[in-house]
Amino acid sequence: MKHTDIKELFYDGEKYVGGSVIVCGWVRTWRDSKSISFIELNDGTCLKNLQLVFDKEKISEESYKEALVVGSALKAEGEFIASERNGYELVVKNVEVLGSCPQDYPLQKKHHTLEFLRTIPHLRPRTKYFEAVFAVRSRLSYAIHKYFQEHGYKYVHTPLITGSDCEGAGEMFRVTTMPWKNDCKTEEEYFSRDFFGRRANLTVSGQLEGEMAAMGLGKIYTFGPTFRAEHSNTTRHAAEFWQIEPEVCFADIHDIIEIAEDFIKYIIKDVVENCPSEIEYFNERAEKGLSEKLANVISSDFAKITYTEAVEVLKKSGKEFKFPVEWGCDLQTEHERYLTEEYYKKPVFVVDYPADIKAFYMKQNADGSTVAATDLLVPGIGEIIGCSEREADIEKLKAAMEKRNMPLEAYTEYLDLRKYGTVPHSGFGLGLERILMYITGVQNIRDTLLFPRTVGSL
Ligand code: 4AD
Ligand code: MG
Repeated sequence: MKHTDIKELFYDGEKYVGGSVIVCGWVRTWRDSKSISFIELNDGTCLKNLQLVFDKEKISEESYKEALVVGSALKAEGEFIASERNGYELVVKNVEVLGSCPQDYPLQKKHHTLEFLRTIPHLRPRTKYFEAVFAVRSRLSYAIHKYFQEHGYKYVHTPLITGSDCEGAGEMFRVTTMPWKNDCKTEEEYFSRDFFGRRANLTVSGQLEGEMAAMGLGKIYTFGPTFRAEHSNTTRHAAEFWQIEPEVCFADIHDIIEIAEDFIKYIIKDVVENCPSEIEYFNERAEKGLSEKLANVISSDFAKITYTEAVEVLKKSGKEFKFPVEWGCDLQTEHERYLTEEYYKKPVFVVDYPADIKAFYMKQNADGSTVAATDLLVPGIGEIIGCSEREADIEKLKAAMEKRNMPLEAYTEYLDLRKYGTVPHSGFGLGLERILMYITGVQNIRDTLLFPRTVGSL
């Protein structure tokens, strides 16, 4: 269907003024006066609508009456003109209704609550809010690839179905083809009859396989879906989310922190530069001061504090936390948010967490109680990155696994990495939806995913 994108018409308008153009799109709103009718048409290529003008002296009302329906899909041809109010408009000569839209179309009003829109995920991409969310999500994904490709990383595709639990938190979805009724006597027998002949899960992280690739390719990144059966019904947890996980050989914890900061600033800068109307829109609609916040993040250094110092800061804060803070406790969202929102008022790396609250693969520090791990916390959200140097010493790694009652025989390949030419290496995981929330000011992770999967909701 030969037509011009509305984005192109606004971007390169002068080229088209005075000529005839064809546009396609959906009717967002329309209005009618004595001599003229107007339609606001959106085709998804940009946030702006193109105004279609129907001059009743030049076009018979009969020929376009059916087009004046919110939600209907149109193809319109006419003269493209410059307009003082809207930049450009299309004076329609011909209109064809591609798909009519009955009155029960749920998006009749200009503004709907986000809660309501969550009940119609299949239609919400037709609203300005979600058009903006998915435009930024798309550009952000591109910027992420761009950063790594420009910096010599190889993109690797790690499996989604796995036999191991990377984070050791046991929050895994099982993958099975077993019938719901079975006569197995033991768990072992049950899994042996299943598709893979053993228990299989959806991955919580591509890190373990990512490390294997990095040990040959030097620098890699993964970018794909990960799954967690966490029963946390919060605005920041999804059961299916996208994670970016770089793994870098010959890099210690300090190197990877530097990389993480450089990377976050790069992708934010890219989105700010390439999605100006979306950021401006979110600045109005989702978070006042968003543009200024992002500009500050790009231009200033992130803070850094040790876990031990952070515990002191929290204790001295005079705040009444729901979960009291003691050295050794996992930081809760309320603690993370105090540190980043009130204490530093900017992104902060918390480093050297107690070994007991972190995963088995993290490098053990000389103090015997902490690991070379860091979380990046940001205002409004809390943790967006989980990062660490990996334990490269096979004996220390085995000890950490035994302490956690992990079956060593299930991790022989992972241990082989430490046996055959081990090197210092580090990596991190960034949650795509979390950084997207930070960049847009969107408050709920359910509004960053096309079809959010959360506990109790599919
Ligand atoms: O801190 P996490 O659990 O780290 C890992 O999975 C490591 N294997 C990463 C690595 O070193 N390669 O998760 C990393 C990030 C979190 O900081 C958060 O942004 C995001 O993944 N994340 C979630 N996002 C949405 N919903 C959930 N349920 C999430 N769980 C983690
Ligand atoms: Mg984490």
